[in-house]
Amino acid sequence: LTDIPSRNECLEILQEAGCSEPVIIHCKLVCRGSLLVGKAAGADLELVEAGALLHDLGRARTHGLTHAVVGAEMATKLGLPEPIIRIIRRHLGSGMSAEEAKSLGLPAEDCFPETPEERIVCHVDSLAAADRFRTLEQTLTELRKKGLGTVAERAAEMHRRLSRECGEDPDILLRTIWPPSG
Ligand SMILES: [Fe+2]
Repeated sequence: LTDIPSRNECLEILQEAGCSEPVIIHCKLVCRGSLLVGKAAGADLELVEAGALLHDLGRARTHGLTHAVVGAEMATKLGLPEPIIRIIRRHLGSGMSAEEAKSLGLPAEDCFPETPEERIVCHVDSLAAADRFRTLEQTLTELRKKGLGTVAERAAEMHRRLSRECGEDPDILLRTIWPPSG
């Protein structure tokens, strides 16, 4: 018995909320990747699937940083289970402290991903470009170019932790979806 929505229910939720086609394609990509990593890590795959599909629900309303907060509010109103709300709320960057959140104009709350499912969706999303996965190195280079050194360090640490939990480098797992170009 579960109240985690199925894949089709999640896709209906995204569509009814008004998410654009590119957002839905991105959510499906993050879902495929998260399931591969989640399977290797022994995570709850039902939760990973629904959380990954719904992580960008808030992009139906805004593409700003607040999409995680707005998405969590939308999920709450829809009566979705707390573990999914948490995945949505904690997927920005590689998590952030209350102080960092406040400095970015977000509610002053810690929002580090904590459970395996939260960490997997957050990190696979970090590695996801529009239509493919970047390697960790490509992702870190882009973050550092943007001056986001702290985010890069956290992403690297998250990657190492997931590698240990999966017994495999997530880059290698994600490469089986399709090879990152360039
Ligand atoms: Fe997002």
